[in-house]
Amino acid sequence: MTSLPSPRFSPRIRTLDKSEWPDWIGVFQEAFNEEFPPERNARFESMIEFDRSLGAFDGDQLVGTTVGCSFSMTVPGGPQPVCGVTAVAVLPSHRRRGVLSALMRRQLADLHESGEALAALYASEAGIYGRYGYGRAVDNLFFDIPRRGSEFAPHAPSDPALRVRVVKPSEAREELAKVFEAVRTTRPGLYARDEARWNGILADDESARHGNGPQRCVIAEDDSGTRGYALFRVKPSFTEHDVPEGEVLLSELFALDPAAYAFVWRQVLDRDLCSRLRAWNRPVDDPLMHMIAEPRMLRAGWLDEMWVRVVDVERAMTARAYSAAADVVVEVTDPVCPWNEGRWRLSCDREGSTWSRTTDPAELRLPASVLGAAYLGGRPLGPYHSAGVADELRHGALRALSSAMIWEIAPWGGLVF
Ligand SMILES: CC(C)(COP(=O)(O)OP(=O)(O)OC[C@H]1O[C@@H](n2cnc3c(N)ncnc32)[C@H](O)[C@@H]1OP(=O)(O)O)[C@@H](O)C(=O)NCCC(=O)NCCS
Repeated sequence: MTSLPSPRFSPRIRTLDKSEWPDWIGVFQEAFNEEFPPERNARFESMIEFDRSLGAFDGDQLVGTTVGCSFSMTVPGGPQPVCGVTAVAVLPSHRRRGVLSALMRRQLADLHESGEALAALYASEAGIYGRYGYGRAVDNLFFDIPRRGSEFAPHAPSDPALRVRVVKPSEAREELAKVFEAVRTTRPGLYARDEARWNGILADDESARHGNGPQRCVIAEDDSGTRGYALFRVKPSFTEHDVPEGEVLLSELFALDPAAYAFVWRQVLDRDLCSRLRAWNRPVDDPLMHMIAEPRMLRAGWLDEMWVRVVDVERAMTARAYSAAADVVVEVTDPVCPWNEGRWRLSCDREGSTWSRTTDPAELRLPASVLGAAYLGGRPLGPYHSAGVADELRHGALRALSSAMIWEIAPWGGLVF
């Protein structure tokens, strides 16, 4: 017998206090079917900005949660404040009764009121957040690369001055952070990491290992210092005939320049006693695919990564840079954030932009979610038109906005929050 859907209700919503963390983590673990050991629980708590949290209550019972992280995230043109939305959970007893919708609406209204222009999130399921005006802004690739077959093409960059150093990840934090800091402003989507986030990246207790080996780190350096690094685990194994077939599980790899990038990849691809490398979260324009002699050997798969919401379209659209000049009138539809609705004129070139209200006839009509999807520069707009999401009312307007919003380097968050 299928049960009837429970009636919708309006939860009471308020900020959560640090003392309520046990209830919060209880809701989270129930919703995600997880059980956190104390060290993982503590790491999670250390990342929470309680004054940016929201709890939904049924009477005195906490039944739903979310929180915002204060990120500095690179967008086309440079870093901007972005609210990273996370810890979204609703108790199974209260699901499909409007709790998430109430939390999302309240959070967006709060962000607007406090003058924040952008929000971003990682979605547990891709069908959830479009209804709240989030657009799928970033994709990623996952690789499953066999060691034999991973050879580089002759043109792959190299530098004989580079050498490798094996380090304990926890002892190399400063070096890793230095490389990451230098890279993060070069790619939309990357966001600054505070102490708590580095603690999460470098965590190496049993719960962080997921049944694999300890976290390992190789550093590429020359006499001038560190130029790149990889963090990974190894899952060792042998066939019944004693042939080694361990797996390298790559969690992140950054480098300051192309030769160091190629060098670090070779360190993890050529790991002795391993027959394959798996990487779950790589940018869609990963230079590796142009270095490897047989790109099919990447055995790549594709997933959505980060979702972006233009909370305040006026602030957001003038906060980023544009790749080309455009002058278009865009009619934005946005029932969840009605302050964004209406006709706006974007006038931009490579030097700057204005986005202002206009009474001129619309040349494009699109939902705010499409502006969110295109915001980080990784989405041409043509497919949204083909899919019936965006209307072009003046021939050429779609292409003009698309060419202005696209960015040379594909966006990539690189680290789930
Ligand atoms: C996903 C989750 C937060 C939804 O909460 P909820 O309170 O049940 O959501 P609501 O009742 O407000 O649903 C709002 C709408 O989203 C839809 N929806 C909810 N969960 C969905 C899902 N997983 N996939 C697709 N649509 C979903 C509902 O059908 C509803 O649609 P409608 O507006 O057309 O009626 C909740 O099911 C949950 O905690 N899941 C497990 C943890 C999780 O995945 N969290 C999200 C982390 S990013």
